[in-house]
Amino acid sequence: MRYFDHNATTPVAPEALAAFSRACTDFYGNPSSIHTSGQQARHAVEEARASVAAMLGCAPREVVFTSGGTEADNLAILGAPAGHVITTAIEHPAVLAAAGLRNATVVRVDGSGRVDPDEIRRALRPDTKLISVMHANNETGVLQPVAEIAAIAREAGALMHSDGVQAAGRIPVDVRALGVDLYSISGHKFNAPKGVGALYVREGVKLAARQVGGRHERERRAGTENVPGIVAMAAAAALPRPVTQPLRDRFEQLVLERIPDVVIHGRNVPRVPNTSCLGFHGIEAEALVIALDLAGFAVSTGAACSSGATRPSHVLEAMGVPPALARATIRVSMGRGTTPEDVESLVQALETAVARLRKLSPAYA
Ligand SMILES: Cc1ncc(COP(=O)(O)O)c(C=O)c1O
Repeated sequence: MRYFDHNATTPVAPEALAAFSRACTDFYGNPSSIHTSGQQARHAVEEARASVAAMLGCAPREVVFTSGGTEADNLAILGAPAGHVITTAIEHPAVLAAAGLRNATVVRVDGSGRVDPDEIRRALRPDTKLISVMHANNETGVLQPVAEIAAIAREAGALMHSDGVQAAGRIPVDVRALGVDLYSISGHKFNAPKGVGALYVREGVKLAARQVGGRHERERRAGTENVPGIVAMAAAAALPRPVTQPLRDRFEQLVLERIPDVVIHGRNVPRVPNTSCLGFHGIEAEALVIALDLAGFAVSTGAACSSGATRPSHVLEAMGVPPALARATIRVSMGRGTTPEDVESLVQALETAVARLRKLSPAYA
């Protein structure tokens, strides 16, 4: 199988697996225990915290370990002070659903999938306490003007959260330069195992725990730490980032050369270097995903991140993509291990499958 679905999840890197395995055998103590075994586990967790902090450009005490991106997003949004929240129509459901539990304004995006900072400014109210805008979109890869929006939040006296799940491990992240107060990451999107993530919480930010029952994580997140997951995520965080930009650019160039009537969403705005979101007029994305799967390639339809969803993607809808084109859109996402040969053969398989599906399509004349 040639794997082109790194935005859904990534394979575990050997370095992360080795760290995971060593934690299971050598650091099995409870980090809260005072004996040597417990203290070895505590030491492993604190070393891991320093590595994750280095990845984000923050201090180790500003890192709160969680069970993944969803929990980090929930903690940021539901743990922030009471009041009005501003978020955007293209966020992951982990943000949208949490914001839906609060008094929230959801701002729109433009046709390329970018949030206009002026829209955020217009949505401000005197009681706005939190703004949440993702760093990179999971479907299109489009990068948002987070630093600019964080400056607006600061001016308004609101906290700024960014869901960085699709940015961390793909582009350099510096939470101080971004000016955010809260930033979510998820290990399984950058070659760590599933079930571990982190929330950056700027020193001084008041955040109420959502999971209670212990004083772990400086009282932000109760529960015995997932030591193997945490050390594996730290090992993955320390790896050099995969170089995917030349592969992604070559892929898009070949597709545009060889296949007619293709739209690459967000192509003309800054994006993470591993993602292509492509609409092939006249086909159904699900049929294309299945045809590619049978040919040995894993890609996804736009909304595959939200498990088994067949509804047209809310992201493409928010961008104003016509429904038929949204239903004809797939996502190709590259990562560690993607080769130029993989890309060449994917283009070949796409060319064949798209031509065959279009022949059968009454919608494609
Ligand atoms: C942008 C974004 N936020 C949050 C999540 C949720 O992360 P997790 O799967 O670790 O809960 C995902 C992935 O599914 C995502 O792509």
